[in-house]
Amino acid sequence: MTYWDNYYSNKIIGDNALVGEPSSFARFTLGFLRCHLPQQRDLNVVDLGCGNGRDAAHFDDCGMKVTAVDRSRDALRLIPREGIAKLCCDMSDLADVEQAFHLAYMRFSLHAVEKKVADCVLQWVARNLLPGGCLAMEARSVNDPRYGAGQSAGEHAFVDSHYRRFIDLDQLTAQLATQLDLEILHAEENWSDAHHGDDKAVVVRVIARNR
Ligand SMILES: C[S@@+](CC[C@H](N)C(=O)[O-])C[C@H]1O[C@@H](n2cnc3c(N)ncnc32)[C@H](O)[C@@H]1O
Repeated sequence: MTYWDNYYSNKIIGDNALVGEPSSFARFTLGFLRCHLPQQRDLNVVDLGCGNGRDAAHFDDCGMKVTAVDRSRDALRLIPREGIAKLCCDMSDLADVEQAFHLAYMRFSLHAVEKKVADCVLQWVARNLLPGGCLAMEARSVNDPRYGAGQSAGEHAFVDSHYRRFIDLDQLTAQLATQLDLEILHAEENWSDAHHGDDKAVVVRVIARNR
């Protein structure tokens, strides 16, 4: 059983109590996108590494057509909604799937995967975003207080209770703009909005658009 299966079957104390409540990043994303994607009903959204689906459920409540992707079957079991399409797979296995969408959303999942998986999924997103469609990501920054905890596992990566690859905002925005030709609409390092209990997470938040 993986760390995330244990987490989502409540064997590890986590944020499953918050399943009925969207994250602050989901709220931020929808507010931010109001001027770029004003008609939010019926937008096709893919939530990559959706976990217990608390943000996927919020997008569903807003009338969007949501596909929730996660490798953990136990995570997807926590999304009891008919309206949300669930795909249990490794996000790097999406490479052969053709699916046009308006919003690709990744909260706390970019830092959960190795660089080669991230590169593969970001290329897939760039290929499948509709013109004007957006990619929204929140992930732990290299300035997060947990950076350096545990065993080193590659550049900016450590295995503590589980794998985390902390994100350098400048490297990420350069990759999105230069390699994937996305337009950066918003890029920030955020020191307060993602805090949860004693986890004082420092995160990068990026929203990029297919031109
Ligand atoms: C920190 S949790 C974030 C969950 C959710 N997005 C949230 O904000 O609450 C990371 C999630 O990424 C999923 N994940 C990790 N590696 C993955 C991969 N290679 N493919 C698909 N999902 C993956 C885990 O199962 C877990 O649900």
